Amino acid sequence: MSTVSVTSPSAANTAVSTTGTLTTPLKDVVQDLPLPAIGEPVIEVQNLTKRYGRNIVHQHLNLEIRRGEIVTLVGGSGSGKTTLVRQILGLEQPTSGTIKMFGEDIATIGAEQARLMRTRTGMLFQQGALFSSLTVFDNIAQPVRELGKVPPDLLRDIVMLKLEMVGLPCKHASKMPAALSGGMIKRVGLARAIVLEPELLFLDEPTAGLDPRSSDEVVDLISTLHRALGLTVVLVTHDLDAMVALSTRVAVLAERRVLVAAPVEEAASVDHPFIREYFLGMRGRRALQALPPERRAKLPPAALASAAVGCKPG
Ligand SMILES: Nc1ncnc2c1ncn2[C@@H]1O[C@H](COP(=O)(O)OP(=O)(O)OP(=O)(O)O)[C@@H](O)[C@H]1O
Ligand SMILES: [Mg+2]
Repeated sequence: MSTVSVTSPSAANTAVSTTGTLTTPLKDVVQDLPLPAIGEPVIEVQNLTKRYGRNIVHQHLNLEIRRGEIVTLVGGSGSGKTTLVRQILGLEQPTSGTIKMFGEDIATIGAEQARLMRTRTGMLFQQGALFSSLTVFDNIAQPVRELGKVPPDLLRDIVMLKLEMVGLPCKHASKMPAALSGGMIKRVGLARAIVLEPELLFLDEPTAGLDPRSSDEVVDLISTLHRALGLTVVLVTHDLDAMVALSTRVAVLAERRVLVAAPVEEAASVDHPFIREYFLGMRGRRALQALPPERRAKLPPAALASAAVGCKPG
């Protein structure tokens, strides 16, 4: 049986045996690794405007995301988070402005280059993560099959390794999506998103609809994959705990643009009504308590007011 290599950090390779299975849980292998170094810009959105008829979703929006970052897009429902991701992926056309991915203007690249770029990115969609008529195996294999003919043994190794990387036993490979729990569906969606070992991963609401324990497990998994594969991650979420746990920076969408893109503690310090409500409301303050002490010390005083449930002053 052929060896399946995991690209990037050597630590990920050490966890892969010659039979294409993980000998040690990936989480244990990567937990002492430093976070991926922040590198060159991989996404540059400049002066972006997007309108649907009279509805202006983005206006003069700017955002830069660098290699190795986990940038979380937050904003109210309808603020344009999914629309922004869809434009970056080339699934929607901007009304005006430019979007560069890996240094290339996505509006001017040819079909072959666009196809290559797609193989360098993975996506977990907000809606309909899996094809309901395909098994778990076939769902994960689908992006590989799209590339062309792959020997069955190699395909099996690739899919089984990805299943293990997301913490699912191989016995689930033959199941249909309807037989899976919500947390398992997200894991399979993640396995499919990383099957081509992308450099750039887009995750739209990866913890939505999960119970707190499954949410924590998915957050852990994203953190592990980020370290193991040296990924750049664009995360869209309403889950404040996930945002605090994972983000190297938070990009706040409001007023049709990115108000601020900065580490959580800096973003929370910006004086703006949406930011006050989002970060300094009770849910926000509770989530911010999970920051390490040296970062909590940089929060505005209002963020440190008690966030305990039912806690009354006095
Ligand atoms: N294909 C479309 N045609 C027309 N309007 C659209 C389309 N897609 C999105 N919109 C509009 O664009 C705006 C932004 O939608 P989007 O789905 O990006 O918001 P969001 O921030 O992802 O919201 P949520 O947090 O609820 O997922 C909304 O007003 C939505 O109605
Ligand atoms: Mg959305």
